[in-house]
Amino acid sequence: MEDDGRVASGSASGRVGVWLIGARGSVATTAIVGAAALARSLVRPTGVVSATEPLASASLPDFDHLVFGGHEVSDAPLLKRAGLLAEEGVLPLTLPAMVADELAEADANIRPGATVDTTGKRPMETIERIGEDLREFRSRHGLSRVVVVNVSSTEAPAEAHPAHSDLPSLREALESGHAVLPESSLYAYAALDAGCSFVDFTPSTGARLPTLEELALEKNVPHAGRDGKTGETLVKSALAPMFSSRALRVRSWTGMNVLGGGDGESLSDPDRLQSKVESKGQVVEDALGYSVESPVRIDYVRDLGEWKTAWDHISFEGFLGTRMKMHFIWEGCDSALAAPLVLDLARLTSYAHARGEKGALVPLAFFFKDPAGSREHNLDRQLTELCEWVMGLENG
Ligand SMILES: NC(=O)c1ccc[n+]([C@@H]2O[C@H](COP(=O)([O-])OP(=O)(O)OC[C@H]3O[C@@H](n4cnc5c(N)ncnc54)[C@H](O)[C@@H]3O)[C@@H](O)[C@H]2O)c1
Repeated sequence: MEDDGRVASGSASGRVGVWLIGARGSVATTAIVGAAALARSLVRPTGVVSATEPLASASLPDFDHLVFGGHEVSDAPLLKRAGLLAEEGVLPLTLPAMVADELAEADANIRPGATVDTTGKRPMETIERIGEDLREFRSRHGLSRVVVVNVSSTEAPAEAHPAHSDLPSLREALESGHAVLPESSLYAYAALDAGCSFVDFTPSTGARLPTLEELALEKNVPHAGRDGKTGETLVKSALAPMFSSRALRVRSWTGMNVLGGGDGESLSDPDRLQSKVESKGQVVEDALGYSVESPVRIDYVRDLGEWKTAWDHISFEGFLGTRMKMHFIWEGCDSALAAPLVLDLARLTSYAHARGEKGALVPLAFFFKDPAGSREHNLDRQLTELCEWVMGLENG
């Protein structure tokens, strides 16, 4: 960042499309407002990792080179959505009106969301319709490339199906009208097939099927996921390595979470909740390197709105088996934590795409609870890997 708060600009050329699935949700709206405010130097890039060195020196697309669009099932205009977030204290009260033009431009690029059709429509038709929207967006704005970021409502885990085993079987099933993919994977398929990179910020299935990895490699596009690491899990991935490095043995790690907002409401459905619990579940054991009792509980409390609280209780033992405890409380504003990471991921993934990367972007594990292609959950090591990777691409 420059001394006056402006974001150091890279040397990327061309405008890049950022296509948000769930484009009028809390995270998407905060990301669009934030990008507009950063492009006009109205705010500091607090929480934006790609605005810190050494990433800030890489030729990532600048904030004023990002063009937003997306798919959404809600009609509420972005300015109205941003106004509600400002009333809740997620955004500065006057900011939505200051970026009203940018919000109107993004609104004009939002297309009706896709849902899994149970009336017999072939899923391939839905994929083709999503693909057409993406191609039209890319050509209408003369974009050098488009990154699709899923920030839609969390889905329940997808059931395994024999058609997931290889690309020809999957194509055949989708052509012949079998609903073998959840919505997030229809979007992922359409994005990769249209030559767009794909980021899954949610715990949904998205591109997390071997067949979709095959499609990404066939189309020479990268993808990243899944489930943005913004709160309790972020703290776990920073704290667990401390116990390991001091040879202290963690006996149990219990996490209790309460949250409100649209995300909290989605997670009040037990099937959808299962996706989130699974994506949060592996971090402690993977970071510590041994099996440990680590239950996670998440409850929806409507009154909390965009705020979430995590209480964690860690029981551990030291020299001669002496038992000790640590407790922490994390109180976060959901979208204020998530939106800058969405911007980081959009910039880094489109940059990787421009540099010829394809398939799962393992070095982006730093941003995720359940990173594709990686069991590394040590936050420091993840950041080192990220920075080395970007510097390698920059100098390569
Ligand atoms: N906020 C965080 O800290 C955080 C961290 C990690 C992951 N996430 C994930 O990000 C996602 C978004 O969170 P949020 O707080 O913005 O939720 P939200 O409920 O405010 O937004 C989700 C949006 O998706 C839209 N949507 C639902 N189905 C759709 C479809 N088929 N097509 C297009 N749009 C559709 C909804 O209308 C809504 O506007 C969630 O899955 C959440 O788990 C959030």
